[in-house]
Amino acid sequence: MTLLDIESISKRYGPVQALDTVSLSVRPSSRTAIVGPSGSGKTTLLRIVAGFEFPDSGRVRLDGALLADGPASVPAHKRGIGIVSQDGALFPHLSVAENIAFGFERGAPDREKRIADLLEMVELDGAMATRRPHQLSGGQQQRVALARALGRRPRLMLLDEPFSALDTGLRENMRKAVSRVLQAAGITAILVTHDQSEALSFADQVAVMREGKLVQAGSPETLYRHPRDRETALFLGDAVLLPAIVKSGFAECALGRVAVEGDHAGKAEIMLRPEQIRVVTDADEPRYGGRVVDVQFGGATCTVAVALAAVALPPILIKTSSVALPAPGDLVRLDVAGTAHVFSR
Ligand SMILES: Nc1ncnc2c1ncn2[C@@H]1O[C@H](COP(=O)(O)OP(=O)(O)OP(=O)(O)O)[C@@H](O)[C@H]1O
Ligand SMILES: [Mg+2]
Repeated sequence: MTLLDIESISKRYGPVQALDTVSLSVRPSSRTAIVGPSGSGKTTLLRIVAGFEFPDSGRVRLDGALLADGPASVPAHKRGIGIVSQDGALFPHLSVAENIAFGFERGAPDREKRIADLLEMVELDGAMATRRPHQLSGGQQQRVALARALGRRPRLMLLDEPFSALDTGLRENMRKAVSRVLQAAGITAILVTHDQSEALSFADQVAVMREGKLVQAGSPETLYRHPRDRETALFLGDAVLLPAIVKSGFAECALGRVAVEGDHAGKAEIMLRPEQIRVVTDADEPRYGGRVVDVQFGGATCTVAVALAAVALPPILIKTSSVALPAPGDLVRLDVAGTAHVFSR
């Protein structure tokens, strides 16, 4: 069952193909994160779903009802979709309370209580209700915009980088709070973000966009472990990429014999996530090892650069705990946990 169906949407602005036959389905009460480089079409896609922009071709359905069929379209205010845009877009001449109440039905009797509840939900002090947007920080404005969108009790909430103006700690708190609020209210959400860890932890489904195309969509774990291509792999986290010869479920590579999934055979490029590789320092005669060329202390997690003995590749970077850190010059063995991913070309 799906709530939202985006079917083969294309959109062009003059010479720019902002979206190229993008299809994506979203299940009810789920959370989808859309990631991709700047200019890849993320905002355009959300604006088409919200009804602020019209596709050249393709369809959008919500709960089976057709919202857009090419340029023919149901107006935005009749879609039951909330949107928090990249810039917040509050009404500058209205107070915080008036901004939040803007989406309420006419003459809503419990207006004051709802405003107070919504402010609490987005963790803003009730005393801010009388302020104007210009008297708020960027992060506070984004939270008011979120409260306003929630006030409409939408079936689907579109969030375009709503946490980007917040610092790391507050950002994580807000993300969790918003997740809770949306889940409690059973609101399906689509979040656009530049932050891969935000995407992987927020979403049930991650969709990766590049140059107007949807490259891959799936569970966070599937995308992280089995990215379609190296760009997607690197977009979602650090990766160690190695040439290999694959045969019968194993890859022969600079790290030795590493198990792989799938039935690929022949020359290939394999990928390991750095946390799959363990640096072993007490090896007397390191087989398939390397030499530590650099150690970067980073508190709980440190980065060790190892030049592989077997191949002329740039040193690989391995994240390791700060306990028993090797020193530059040490010979080490590299143990691999789990399976490597093979890019099929
Ligand atoms: N109204 C418009 N007129 C002309 N070109 C546009 C318009 N809106 C978007 N574009 C272009 O379409 C492409 C996709 O833009 P979009 O805003 O969807 O990207 P994005 O993925 O949201 O990027 P960012 O991460 O920077 O927000 C870009 O090349 C952009 O310049
Ligand atoms: Mg954008």
